[in-house]
Amino acid sequence: MSATSPLRPVLPPDIRARKGSAPLVVLTAYTTPMARLVDPHCDVALVGDSLGMVLHGMPSTLGVTLEMMILHGRSVVRGCQKAMVVIDMPFGSYEEGPQQAYRNAARLMTETGAPAVKLEGGVHMAETISFLTKRGVPVMAHIGLTPQSVNTFGGYKVVGREDEADLVMQDALAVQAAGAFSVVLEKVPMGLAGRITAALDIPTIGIGAGIDCDGQVLVIDDMLGLFTEFRPKFVKRYANLGKTADEAIAAYAAEVRARAFPGDEHSFPDVLPPKGSK
Ligand code: KIV
Repeated sequence: MSATSPLRPVLPPDIRARKGSAPLVVLTAYTTPMARLVDPHCDVALVGDSLGMVLHGMPSTLGVTLEMMILHGRSVVRGCQKAMVVIDMPFGSYEEGPQQAYRNAARLMTETGAPAVKLEGGVHMAETISFLTKRGVPVMAHIGLTPQSVNTFGGYKVVGREDEADLVMQDALAVQAAGAFSVVLEKVPMGLAGRITAALDIPTIGIGAGIDCDGQVLVIDDMLGLFTEFRPKFVKRYANLGKTADEAIAAYAAEVRARAFPGDEHSFPDVLPPKGSK
């Protein structure tokens, strides 16, 4: 980036400082072309482990590896000039304890160039978040429905109704006290998400957590209509690119079968036309 460029990458303190001001705009991105589309419009490009499901056809995020996150993380960093890239720590890469988490977070940051990681868990992850943040690893926390624990939850359920509300509030306070610079609230009832947002000094980023969060995140393939296997209630579809792609592929297949493609304009003549002629 040139010294005169108006673009400066967003960094964790910038996100932290946005508490109570303009809503934070976050989308997932997994590749350079998508990152280039996301970058001008978003504060954060999240390399979510949802990539296991939307790009790699896995049944859940549990099979995603550190190597996959590094590969996609590098790709997204290449496509972002302004938005901050945050990379998910995949299942099994941080739960053993702070040292394991530090080793793998350091790999994610040094091998991709991303300035921050995200990990799932509240009170039980507070010690690990504290260890990381004291050692130069900015952490975005993720509480409420944590998809890596889908088997423990018994499905992708709303988390935080009735008796659970207090536990989710405790998770939020614990990750803040541990030093997280922001926290994702997933599938948390909207009243509770509003109370958590009011109680915290760090920004909350909602996905299925209502309008009162400090920011919102969606999975890009969901909102563009590229991933249609299932559609949670919280997904708003802003485009139907899956349908557009299907129509384009069908048109190509029909033209190839009818020998209508390629035309002369997509082919190379045996003899070049004389210079100056069209
Ligand atoms: O993996 C992911 O995409 C996420 C977001 C849905 C928050 O964690």
